[in-house]
Amino acid sequence: MQLLIIAASIIIICINPTVYALCRRTNDQKNYTCSGAKFYQLRTSPNQKQNILRSTIENCKEKEIPETVLPFPNLEQLTISCGSIEVVHKNAFTNLQKLQELNLEENAISGFPNGVFESLQQLQKLHLSQNNFMKISQHLFTGLQGLTFLSLSNNKLSDFDLHSFQEIKQIEELFLNNNEISFIPSKTFQTLKQLIILNLSYNKIESVNEIFTFMYELRHLNLSHNVIQSLPANDFVNTRLQILDLSFNELTVIYEGSLPLQTLQELYLQNNKISLIELREVNYFPLKKLDLRNNRLVFLEDEFLTKATSLEALKVENNPWDCKCFEKMAFLRGNLSLELSSSYRDGEEPICVVENVTECNVDKNDLINYYNVLARYWTLR
Ligand SMILES: *[C@@H]1O[C@H](CO)[C@@H](O)[C@H](O)[C@H]1NC(C)=O
Ligand SMILES: *[C@@H]1O[C@H](CO)[C@@H](O)[C@H](O)[C@H]1NC(C)=O
Ligand SMILES: *[C@@H]1O[C@H](CO)[C@@H](O)[C@H](O)[C@H]1NC(C)=O
Ligand SMILES: *[C@@H]1O[C@H](CO)[C@@H](O)[C@H](O)[C@H]1NC(C)=O
Ligand SMILES: *[C@@H]1O[C@H](CO)[C@@H](O)[C@H](O)[C@H]1NC(C)=O
Repeated sequence: MQLLIIAASIIIICINPTVYALCRRTNDQKNYTCSGAKFYQLRTSPNQKQNILRSTIENCKEKEIPETVLPFPNLEQLTISCGSIEVVHKNAFTNLQKLQELNLEENAISGFPNGVFESLQQLQKLHLSQNNFMKISQHLFTGLQGLTFLSLSNNKLSDFDLHSFQEIKQIEELFLNNNEISFIPSKTFQTLKQLIILNLSYNKIESVNEIFTFMYELRHLNLSHNVIQSLPANDFVNTRLQILDLSFNELTVIYEGSLPLQTLQELYLQNNKISLIELREVNYFPLKKLDLRNNRLVFLEDEFLTKATSLEALKVENNPWDCKCFEKMAFLRGNLSLELSSSYRDGEEPICVVENVTECNVDKNDLINYYNVLARYWTLR
């Protein structure tokens, strides 16, 4: 067998001398990159093995990552991105004890044998996006106590075990966007006390009840492109969220206390069906960016604009604003700049709806008139 392999690689070299050039080392010997080579063709002298710190294997046309795939004991970064890998051997990475970053993006992996990461005590970043994961089993991440970054975006995840993420308590950034997630059990993220960034955009999430309650460190949360209809009160009350993206959902009313306005700096609510944003409790809020485009807003509470004194960018177009209320908003905030696209600046699209009233005094139960008037100009979401 061994003889055959050697013969095979010699033949490759003889017939096509450029094949070997597909594996390259940088002059400092630290980076080793291979494209189009099979795993058994990755060869280096024992001296070189010690020097290699970063390795990228692309387009390898292999279906399986075999046992101890790379004999580089000092390797810190490894990328195996072949499009074709389906199976990873339980001991594939056992000799890579100094590995800090493992990138298996763009393969066809749907699961791992339990314990596959057990020897990777130093691992900080794990990239698994663009694979075929449908479920995260309970012990998948056993051994990864130091992991701070995990990406599982662009998979087919729909199912969570409640304990899926229990073993990676140090995680700071978690990317679960572009999956098929519709339901998240309420305590799924509860052990992730260090989590700062969570991306759940492009899923099918309907409810976020009791999901974020104990996530004290969470700063950036992206829930855009889901099907959330309402926000529970106080779900974010313990977080210190700075950026919250809820755009492209099905929200209709934002109730008092459902947004963490004490800490939010950027709030994205565009492309929902919001007709009402209630708020009274907060005295001041540090909001800098607010996007309200493409909703059903007729007016904003006066307090909203007077208390958001840091507001720098407000996007309002494509709402059936009452013209009197809109004037009042402008008046309350002096020269707050509205970011309008050219068709609104040029007057091609109406920024507000004229009712036969003399002041901003909207009947919350009678908003349909406004929708009807503006419906002539745009398709009401
Ligand atoms: C080696 O790889 C690292 C990380 O990918 C890169 O930042 C660095 O510039 C590479 N070194 C050389 C000499 O190309
Ligand atoms: C996910 O959300 C985070 C935080 O909002 C954002 O910074 C990042 O660009 C998003 N990533 C992707 C892949 O959409
Ligand atoms: C949220 O994620 C979407 C898609 O992944 C991205 O386009 C958007 O920029 C993100 N929002 C923020 C505030 O980063
Ligand atoms: C309005 O603009 C003037 C300068 O043109 C500035 O001094 C003032 O602070 C601005 N007021 C607000 C509320 O932003
Ligand atoms: C204002 O308009 C409503 C219908 O939108 C109508 O019923 C009412 O009579 C009008 N009032 C005045 C003073 O024109």
